[in-house]
Amino acid sequence: MNNSQREKELKQKIDAEKVPRHIAIIMDGNGRWALEKGLPRQEGHRQGVETVRDIVRCANELGISILTLFAFSTENWQRPAWEVNYLMSLPEKYFQSELPELKRNNVQIRLIGDAARLPRKVRQAVEEGTEATRDNTGMILNFALNYGSRSEILRAVKLLVDDVTSGTIKGEINEKTFSSYLYTVDMPDPDLLIRTSGEKRISNFLLWQLAYSELWFTSVFWPDFSRVDLMEAVHDYQLRRRRFGKL
Ligand code: IPE
Ligand code: IPE
Ligand code: MG
Repeated sequence: MNNSQREKELKQKIDAEKVPRHIAIIMDGNGRWALEKGLPRQEGHRQGVETVRDIVRCANELGISILTLFAFSTENWQRPAWEVNYLMSLPEKYFQSELPELKRNNVQIRLIGDAARLPRKVRQAVEEGTEATRDNTGMILNFALNYGSRSEILRAVKLLVDDVTSGTIKGEINEKTFSSYLYTVDMPDPDLLIRTSGEKRISNFLLWQLAYSELWFTSVFWPDFSRVDLMEAVHDYQLRRRRFGKL
C-alpha cells in the first residue's frame, strides 16, 4: 500500500469527533537522520522544518485544537555553538515562509519557554508571529523554545510565592491555581504525546502537564515523520481507553 492509499484508509478510520484536543510532540532525531545520510547535522534540522510545515497542516486538517512542538530545550544550549546558532536561525526562516499561510488558516502562534534568554532576532521573529496571529481563532500552534519543565515549575513556584506574600492571592492553593502559573496557563493538558526517533524519555518536557497524557513513540526520525505517521498516532490514540484512575 502506498502512502496516499494509507492516508485515505486512515482518514476513514479516524473518528473526526474524537481527535485529541491537544497533541504535544518531541521532535527528535534530526541529527541521526542526517548522519545516516552522510550529511551535516544542519541538514537534518533544515529538513525537520519541512516536517513541521507538513505536520502543522495535517494537524489543522484533522481538527486538532492545540499542537505543541518542542523545538529547543533549556538543555540544548550545551550543544556546540555552531549547532545552537544554526537552530536559532530557523524560527526566523520558518515564520518568513509560513506566516502568510498560517494567517490564512486562522492558526494562532504562541510560545512557551523563557523567551527573555533567546537571541533578539529569534524573539522578534516569534513576537511578530504571535502578534500577527493574535486574533486568530483556529488551531493554537504552540512552540516550546528555550523550554524546560523543571525551570517552568520553579518559576511558577516563585511567582506563586510572590503573589501569596503580597496578598494578591488568598485562600486555598489547588492544582488549578498552580497550573495558572505555568507557561501553558490557559491550555488544557496534552491528550497525546508523540516522540520520534526511538528515544523513550520525556527530556524535561511538560512534566506537570503530561500526568495523564497517552504516550506514542515511533522510531521514525523527525525529518521522515509524515502525515501518515501523525494519523497513525491519532488512530492509535482513539483505540485506547483513558481511565484517569477510575474503573
Ligand atoms: C531534534 O533533533 C532537534 C533538537 C533537539 C533541537 P536532534 O538534534 O536531537 O537529533 P539527534 O537526537 O541528535 O538525532
Ligand atoms: C529533546 O530532544 C528536545 C527537543 C526535541 C527540542 P533532545 O535530543 O535534546 O533530548 P535528549 O538529550 O536525547 O534527551
Ligand atoms: Mg535528540
